[in-house]
Amino acid sequence: MPQPTNRVFSGVQPTGNLHLGNYLGAIKNFAALQHTHECIYCVVDLHAVTVELVQPQLKAQTREIAAAYLAAGIDPERNIIFNQSQVREHSELAWLFNCVARMGWLSRMTQFKDKAGKDAEQASVGLFAYPSLMAADILVYRATHVPVGDDQKQHLELTRDIAAKFNHDFAARIRELGHGESYFPVTEPIIEGAATRVMSLRDGTRKMSKSEPSDLSRINLTDSADDISKKIRKAKTDPEPLPEDSKELGDRPEAKNLVGIYASLADVTVEEVIAEHGGKQFGAFKPVLAELAVERLSPINREMRKLLDDPGHVDSVLNSGAARAREIASVTIKEVRDIFGFLG
Ligand code: AMP
Ligand code: TRP
Repeated sequence: MPQPTNRVFSGVQPTGNLHLGNYLGAIKNFAALQHTHECIYCVVDLHAVTVELVQPQLKAQTREIAAAYLAAGIDPERNIIFNQSQVREHSELAWLFNCVARMGWLSRMTQFKDKAGKDAEQASVGLFAYPSLMAADILVYRATHVPVGDDQKQHLELTRDIAAKFNHDFAARIRELGHGESYFPVTEPIIEGAATRVMSLRDGTRKMSKSEPSDLSRINLTDSADDISKKIRKAKTDPEPLPEDSKELGDRPEAKNLVGIYASLADVTVEEVIAEHGGKQFGAFKPVLAELAVERLSPINREMRKLLDDPGHVDSVLNSGAARAREIASVTIKEVRDIFGFLG
């Protein structure tokens, strides 16, 4: 199969509490890319079981991510939306990539260290091998571009390392089988916008995260308008007004975060936000931000609720997406099996 030149792949884990960071750092960009690229968006349920083994809400959480994709405006006819575990080729390629990736590479992954915490001996092997599966997700479609938040940068570098080692070690077979000079592309990350790293509303030095115990730290995509306003009102800030120059945001993490959120929601630059709101006290800026957040998130929230009232529809989107994904992935697996030299 010829290499695609313009194919986007990305994924979100169905681990509950989908939040503003996921939306601004990832899903909002997913929707924008459908106008220029061929896009494949996945609910990565196999990744979701690397930390929490037993997940009674897995089906509901999988539907929630799919509903968020749809509510954000991703067209499931033009693009592919599906859940990872339905396409077994991801797991097969992940195993092969476990044999390409080196222990040293995976040992350096900061997300593993963060998630494993102090007792790495107790972490699952799946959590350690997580980046191999992520590389397989992307490369089983030979995707060229991957939109993600800033925290995934290191995993995407590892994806490139795996592709490069595979292309190098199997160079002769790849050429012999007529695939040209390399089989897997060097995937480009797309980490763009004013909110590639949305921080906690309670602590501007910590990332907004699904697992943070305080619900006040994040805006969930399922929050009501009242909750959104309340959380922004209560967001931690420093006592100074907004600066007149965006460079002065550098050492003010909470102010920088709220301005970045505003810029991303309004589709303007940080400089434009400062030009309009610089000098304002937070008492004046927060209500404007809350209004904007409610205006942008409410339609998504409403559409997600509507979709989740009809799980049958969401399931059929995922099932037909999986069938289309499998058609592409199965060709890659066949070719990769051939490159490795497996019998049959
Ligand atoms: P996850 O929920 O870990 O599967 O993340 C899904 C997507 O959201 C990935 O592209 C992440 O990089 C992105 N993301 C997660 N948290 C944040 C955040 N606080 N700010 C920006 N992007 C984020
Ligand atoms: N690791 C990503 C995250 O936590 C989710 C993910 C899995 C992903 N597979 C992917 C993202 C492939 C982009 C491409 O956010």
